[in-house]
Amino acid sequence: MAAPDHLVIFDTTLRDGEQSPGATMNKNEKLRIAKALEKLRVDVIEAGFAIASQGDFEAVKAIAETIKESTICSLARALDKDIDRAAEAIRPAAQGRIHTFIATSPIHMQHKLQMKPDEVVEQAVRAVKRARSHVDDVEFSCEDAGRSELDFLCRIIEAAIDAGATTINIPDTVGYAIPEEFGETIRQLLNRIPNADKAIFSVHCHNDLGLAVANSIAAVTNGARQVECTINGLGERAGNASLEEIVMAVRTRKDLFNIDTRVNAEHIVPASRLVSTITGFPVQPNKAIVGANAFAHESGIHQDGVLKHRETYEIMRAQDVGWHTNSLVLGKHSGRNAFRTRLQELGIQFETETELNEAFTRFKALADLKHEIFDEDLQAIASDTKQKEEIGRYGLVCMKVASETGVVPKATLTLTVDGTEHTVTSEGSGPVDAAFKAIESLVDSGCNLQLYSVNNITSGTDAQGEVTVRLERGGRIVNGVGADTDIIIASAKAYIEALNLVTSGGIRQHPQVADV
Ligand code: KIV
Ligand code: ZN
Repeated sequence: MAAPDHLVIFDTTLRDGEQSPGATMNKNEKLRIAKALEKLRVDVIEAGFAIASQGDFEAVKAIAETIKESTICSLARALDKDIDRAAEAIRPAAQGRIHTFIATSPIHMQHKLQMKPDEVVEQAVRAVKRARSHVDDVEFSCEDAGRSELDFLCRIIEAAIDAGATTINIPDTVGYAIPEEFGETIRQLLNRIPNADKAIFSVHCHNDLGLAVANSIAAVTNGARQVECTINGLGERAGNASLEEIVMAVRTRKDLFNIDTRVNAEHIVPASRLVSTITGFPVQPNKAIVGANAFAHESGIHQDGVLKHRETYEIMRAQDVGWHTNSLVLGKHSGRNAFRTRLQELGIQFETETELNEAFTRFKALADLKHEIFDEDLQAIASDTKQKEEIGRYGLVCMKVASETGVVPKATLTLTVDGTEHTVTSEGSGPVDAAFKAIESLVDSGCNLQLYSVNNITSGTDAQGEVTVRLERGGRIVNGVGADTDIIIASAKAYIEALNLVTSGGIRQHPQVADV
């Protein structure tokens, strides 16, 4: 296989990213993110784990039907049933890939798989062959490669390539590796495996020690030509390598890397915002590239330097990664056409005219309150509208909250439960607490509130507040997100969305639970 002329970016926001507790996304949300990834020009979109549930299967299939420019991939354990399901889901794709994996570390083989190394090799070969019977583009991953023995990795990878794998992925599944060591592993694998030139070598690093990006970069320096990563570094536990950091590291230091990605970096910030809004995982202000402070200079010396010559303190231009899109787009007098056009530019589509009308009504109401409407506001309106159309045992009809110095706060809410209206009142330590208690007095969900956070979507006191509520019940964790210029209303919306999510959704398999 000819070495690629660019660094292949394999985005797994919709698969590994979705494995973050509470980051579950529905089909429409995944489609919106997939469109943003296509716009970003990522090479491969890992759209999901098709066998996990009917919902996951439908989402992978819908993405395969819609996306034309990126390869669409589904994950599959090294099992016939997984591989066949993945193949079915990606069948409509213009370019499809099956990604199959099995664990290769002694600890995983002995305790999780309870298989001998010989059996693992045999199973890997079988899986790759089966995947190749469906598609030409097959990726094979050695799960927990970061803790696997080099000799065994060489053996299983050589066999997988012989069986037809076209990409070999080396995951540091538990985020254990250190950059120098990980880079050396990649170098050794490429040198020692006789048929290494027949496949592209990839890495997939987790961030448990905060080293996912550093390890990925060390791997690229040593010959890896695909990096698996996610928007905002979303992913299991501490997350995956962050796409924006990998792309910008390679591009900014082109003096060191004689390879670039095909990513259109101007779409990075909008994609980051979209993922954050949909998953309810806020981006920390000091996050590289996409954090609110990434290009903000606080100290007088820095400000002075930047004003005299930008490159004194800035190594990248904010607009090159999409910060310029944070501009005023629409206002109170904008009409339906301008609204529709801007939504299209943002990749937001409504399935019905009724949905569009509903969103337009919300836009007008918001424009009355805050006059200047930004792209981020439109994203929030779109999420809110789609959410309302899609799910819901529970709905918010109206609410009234009393908050006064020296008086116990009180909230009265009218909610629909399975279509019937109920009005409830509760007191609380604050207005949000009172609102949540009022909801619970009716619903009695048995959920534990794990997280409550508020972020402003744009700047200014008239901005919409975006609230994330994380609820847990019986081990199932969900995030609800609500946006409104009134943060108490946003809070109630987020709580109700989380309740709707916790009461919907069937059983889902986790890819890394053995079933071999
Ligand atoms: O972290 C991991 O090992 C994975 C594999 C399934 C690639 O996500
Ligand atoms: Zn992973």
